[in-house]
Amino acid sequence: MCGIVAYVGPKQAQPILLEGLKRLEYRGYDSAGVAVVGEVGLKSARSVGRVSVLEQNLADAGGLAGSLGIAHTRWATHGSPTEANAHPHTDDAGTIALVHNGIIENYATLRTFLEGKGHTFSSETDTEVLAQLIGELRRSGLSLEDAVKAALREVTGAYAIACIAQDEPDTLVVARKGSPLLVGLGPDCYIAASDAQAIISHTTQVIALDDYQVAKLTINGQGPDLRTTTIDDIPVSPVVQDLEMSLDQIELGDYSHYMQKEIMEQPMALTNALRGRLDQREGRVVLGGLANLARDLVRARRFILIGQGTAMHAGLVGEYLLEDLAKVPAEVEYASEFRYRNPIVDEGTVVVAISQSGETADTLAALTEAKDRGALAIGVVNAVGTTIARETDAGVYLHVGPEIGVASTKAFIGQVTVLTLISLLIGRRKYLAKDVVATYLAELEKMPGYIERVVNQTDYIRDETMKYIERENWLFLGRGYNYPVALEGALKLKEISYIHAEGMPAAEMKHGPIALIDEGMPVVFVAPRGSQYDKVVSNIEEVRARGGHIIAVADEDDHEIEQYADTVFRVPHVPEPLQPLITTIPLQLLAYHAAVARGHDVDKPRNLAKSVTVE
Ligand code: AGP
Ligand code: GLU
Repeated sequence: MCGIVAYVGPKQAQPILLEGLKRLEYRGYDSAGVAVVGEVGLKSARSVGRVSVLEQNLADAGGLAGSLGIAHTRWATHGSPTEANAHPHTDDAGTIALVHNGIIENYATLRTFLEGKGHTFSSETDTEVLAQLIGELRRSGLSLEDAVKAALREVTGAYAIACIAQDEPDTLVVARKGSPLLVGLGPDCYIAASDAQAIISHTTQVIALDDYQVAKLTINGQGPDLRTTTIDDIPVSPVVQDLEMSLDQIELGDYSHYMQKEIMEQPMALTNALRGRLDQREGRVVLGGLANLARDLVRARRFILIGQGTAMHAGLVGEYLLEDLAKVPAEVEYASEFRYRNPIVDEGTVVVAISQSGETADTLAALTEAKDRGALAIGVVNAVGTTIARETDAGVYLHVGPEIGVASTKAFIGQVTVLTLISLLIGRRKYLAKDVVATYLAELEKMPGYIERVVNQTDYIRDETMKYIERENWLFLGRGYNYPVALEGALKLKEISYIHAEGMPAAEMKHGPIALIDEGMPVVFVAPRGSQYDKVVSNIEEVRARGGHIIAVADEDDHEIEQYADTVFRVPHVPEPLQPLITTIPLQLLAYHAAVARGHDVDKPRNLAKSVTVE
């Protein structure tokens, strides 16, 4: 999903902007562009496709000189992915340039108004309307900062923007509403971006703009000057945060893909997620972010877990965990559905917003809806300081490190881990005895080692996967805690290998989908030993009887399964509530190897974005 990088400082802007765009490529995009203000005025370049195409075009044209610039990777919402629709957009006088993440919802009305003023448009986008409006407002003598504020007061929709003007070569203006924007405070420069990945190589000191905030960033003879206000020109005191991120966390290292790195490093990611949170001696969980709310959580009458995609699958595991370990009613909802229903929420309700990026538009909107109706809001978020994290009453960060691969892997494990810890924290204060919790905590302590044993099977899992990658339709089946794992396994396969895959409860297969089973169809069963193992074996038999090929995720010491399965991925046996943490791993590797074998861009799958910040 779209990316913004902007720079003002003593250095040439172009290389800094291009390096920043490359760090944002993982978010998914269809075109890119830069604009720079230099001695020859405001110049820009745009290209369809990868940043590397833009870079080559710039090199061929001799590059853009200047120390003030903005850059963008576009994920088209209004207007097809063409060069004319790529950002930056300028006013028709060519005096200002703008890049924008989000949607200007009233762009048509504004465009009609501006055309009536004689402005001519060169794109189909909503963004150009904002650029033209700022240009129009500057005609009346407004400074860039004041014109941006005046224009944003006319706008409805979501935006993160960066804007520069030919006649203000020292000034960068940025603003946000509903789409993230960070301002990096360099030693002698400002670098603004929609994602910390583009800033971390310059500084760890950032200001995260809040909705309706504007920052004017100036570097001139008097040194750096930063002014933050609302769009109504009310001064705002900026809050400086320290980015919890390092370059090596976002470098690929010796891996072939970020997804591979993030799968293989899950033992360390889980270790980090658990660090300081397990008190085995007392049989207690320690979650500092929830310390002040523990009694509210214990007294809660109901939990609603909201998220999209993988986060929703983690929420489904959370539903089972809360009911099982904390004995409290829980339900998981697609955030996009929850926000448009007429949900029943009251002061006894706790809503848990689950999000790796902390910026998913539907999850943020559902969270706001639940809070407005009186719910206590808890966040389970990976990216520190993001909008969803800031909008909740309290929360627990995953601490699994930046996740760059579009297909979520270690974040899912982190989300499930945190939901397990929350369930144990509440359960320990209600019904769970100290020694029962201590047993779970001891198993969690061993989980990184368990995961290591599974990721080390990557070559075997690849070889087995190769047997099936020509098949275009797969089923993923599981029961109980492993039903969400089946959903997650299906999502992983389809979103990076483009193979159609469907996950469902194993029993549900008999109620229609069994009609899909034909000779050789791969059917993945998540089948560790547990309370429903025998039922799963029966389902396996039903599929085999119709020619399906069985791929089973099973316990290391389960040799009975070999009678029924064509392929077995083995995992250490763990207590049922902890099984998703280990049974998911082989399915991540299956999807990864299938996508690589089919020649797809594993880290940037077609049509997908890492963070869906539009509705
Ligand atoms: C998961 O592999 C996908 N990339 C996608 O479903 C993702 O989980 C979803 O968009 C939610 O993102 P979030 O966790 O950042 O809110
Ligand atoms: N709505 C704008 C466009 O379609 C911005 C899309 C984005 O966020 O990249 O150009």
